[in-house]
Amino acid sequence: MTTDANSQAAWKQAAARAAVDLVSDGMIVGIGTGSTATFAIHALANRMQTGLRFLGIPSSERSAALATSLGIPLTTFADHPRIDLTIDGADEVERGTLNLIKGHGGALLREKIVAVASRRLVIIVDGTKLVDRLGERSAIPVEVVDFGWEATKGRLEALGATVDLRCTPDGEPFCTDGGNRILDCSFGSIADPAMLEEKIGRIVGVVECGLFVGLADMVFIGDATGVTCLERSPGPSVGA
Ligand code: 5RP
Repeated sequence: MTTDANSQAAWKQAAARAAVDLVSDGMIVGIGTGSTATFAIHALANRMQTGLRFLGIPSSERSAALATSLGIPLTTFADHPRIDLTIDGADEVERGTLNLIKGHGGALLREKIVAVASRRLVIIVDGTKLVDRLGERSAIPVEVVDFGWEATKGRLEALGATVDLRCTPDGEPFCTDGGNRILDCSFGSIADPAMLEEKIGRIVGVVECGLFVGLADMVFIGDATGVTCLERSPGPSVGA
């Protein structure tokens, strides 16, 4: 699919608006991170101005700051351990399973905590994010503790990945909201994401990985034809 930045932004915004229409009065809403989630935060703020009442739980300091600046009231897991609906972006969405790769914005740990605490996880993407198999285009971001990250990198390479330490544009190691590093792990096309997630999770030093398996309930996809919604077929529930 060929696309330009303006069309892609419009598709993200259309998907975000469709997802935000699902929010109803009194909900606890998980707020995602990234450029598509930013459109959702603005759409939530717009709906608030027309009377919608809800409380948000953001998945990053960035999203918290934006939500606060737009007047969206926030809450915490201490007061609301269960989330009704989370709206978040993704880097890849696998057609058929709706399994995801997330974390290219560096917020995967909090995003996964928010996702598994959610009764419904709604993903918003533009059509360029759809793939037949996860890993086709994107590396899997893996959040690791700083101590011994070089050894952790070696264990990830032993699983078959090409591994890059994520750096900022200044060349400094990227630091997550939790004070950890990100190793971007390219595995190529992934046949069994659940098994890979388990293997990565067993490595000492790994905090969490950006494979989201069996978590997304709905995906809104914006593209040149409008917005399409995919729903996961019923199966064992992983989230709250
Ligand atoms: C952040 C994420 C984002 O949801 C993902 O990177 C998609 O971002 P964007 O909407 O900017 O394409 O997982 O950690």
